[in-house]
Formats: sequence, C-alpha cells, structure tokens
Amino acid sequence: MGQGGGTRVRIRSLTRRYETVSGEPPLVALERVDLEIEPGERVAVMGTSGSGKSTLLHLVGALDQPSGGGVELDGQELACLSGRERAELRRSIGMVFQDFRLLPTLSALENVAAPLVPTCRPRLARTRAQAALEEVGLGQRLRALPRELSGGQQQRVALARALIVEPALLLADEPTGNLDPATGSLVLELLLELGERRGATLLLVTHDAAVAACCERTVRLEEGRLVETM
Ligand SMILES: Nc1ncnc2c1ncn2[C@@H]1O[C@H](COP(=O)(O)OP(=O)(O)OP(=O)(O)O)[C@@H](O)[C@H]1O
Ligand SMILES: [Mg+2]
Repeated sequence: MGQGGGTRVRIRSLTRRYETVSGEPPLVALERVDLEIEPGERVAVMGTSGSGKSTLLHLVGALDQPSGGGVELDGQELACLSGRERAELRRSIGMVFQDFRLLPTLSALENVAAPLVPTCRPRLARTRAQAALEEVGLGQRLRALPRELSGGQQQRVALARALIVEPALLLADEPTGNLDPATGSLVLELLLELGERRGATLLLVTHDAAVAACCERTVRLEEGRLVETM
C-alpha cells in the first residue's frame, strides 16, 4: 500500500445510520458523503459537534462499517477485504483518536511500540518508540502509565504511536484539541513533516481554522452532509 507515497482515498455515497434504542427513527450520522483525496493530499474536516467527523474517520480507517456507500483505499474497496487483508491494511494507517485510546496497563513506551510488535524485534521497537516519544517532548516519561499523564501528554503519546509506523494514510481526530498553543503547533508540525517526508495522505479533523489553513483543502460537515469544499 502506498509504496512510499500516500494513499488514494475515494469515498462514495458514504452513509452511516445508528439504530436508536427508543424506537425513534435511526440517527443519520453521515449521509451520502462523496469525497476524493489524492495521494499525499492534506484535507481538513471541520463542522460542529455531532456533525459526523469522527464517524467519517472511523469508516475511512476501516474501524466501522457503513450503512451504505463505501470507501476505497488505493483502489481497494474496504467492504471486500478479508479479515487478514483488513488487518494488514490497518498497519499502513496511523490513527490519532479523539479519546486517545491508549492501553491503560501499558507504559507510554509500550503503547507507542505496540504497532511495531508484530513485525519488529522487541529491542528495535523500543528504541524507535523512545525516539518517537522524544520527538513529541516526552522523553522523560517513557515509563509513565496513561493515567499518570495529562490529557495533552496522552494526546502526544497517541500521536507518536500513530507516526511510528510511518503510515501512508494518517487520520487525526482533533490532534491539537487538548494542547496549549505552543505544544499544539509542535504536534501540527510533526504531522505536516510526516507528510513531506513520507508523502502521506492526511485527513485532519479540527475546530481551529488556523490548523485547517495548513491543509491544502478544507471540507465541512453539517448534520452528516458534506456541504462545502474550499
Ligand atoms: N455509537 C453510536 N450510537 C448512536 N449514535 C452515535 C454513535 N456514535 C455517534 N453517534 C451519533 O452520530 C452523530 C455524529 O457523531 P460524531 O462522533 O461523528 O460527531 P463529531 O462531528 O465527531 O462530533 P464532535 O466534534 O463532538 O467530536 C452524533 O449525533 C452522535 O450522537
Ligand atoms: Mg468527534
């Protein structure tokens, strides 16, 4: 996938409905979203809370299944992949979750090294994880558990974990949302630098117009619909 460049993303008529427990009509989180992203392109996704941004990222990252439409990554339709192909594909995707999703019983170092464990010797995995944590300014907190870190520090661990596989596709859900302006710009720089070094495709959710301005294109979601492309 990607072979050193970024992933081509094609989103077609993507729809995600959630059934409601109350028997009310299903909640439509995404409705017939079409979006094409070129390899190496950086696209910001904006929109109010509840407009479907995280839903979109989870679908593109093959972590959720659509109710309609589909996602192709480098010409491969996600719905057609076997479990094994899906697992392999996931390894070329870096994801920074809005709620971090660090493993609570693993140290910062072990969390960051985790994506390398299936393919890499343990010592090399640890060395690379340490370098990644130093890059995000957490070289002094390698052994800390997630609960011993602040929200912004956990976010930086999550970023280091996403970048360590040098992904061809990076999906980042408000990666600067919990950070002070100085740390936020450090994290943003790291994200953009990966793009330049690796040619990675970036899909970046943000509420911050200044962050969006660092991307080539901004799209906006409104109640699950893509309403505007700049
Ligand atoms: N598992 C779920 N079950 C039911 N409804 C859900 C579920 N996940 C999300 N939703 C609903 O889908 C809609 C879109 O949610 P989503 O998390 O994608 O929004 P968002 O744009 O990321 O918002 P925020 O900026 O607050 O993170 C919301 O109305 C939300 O309540
Ligand atoms: Mg969200």
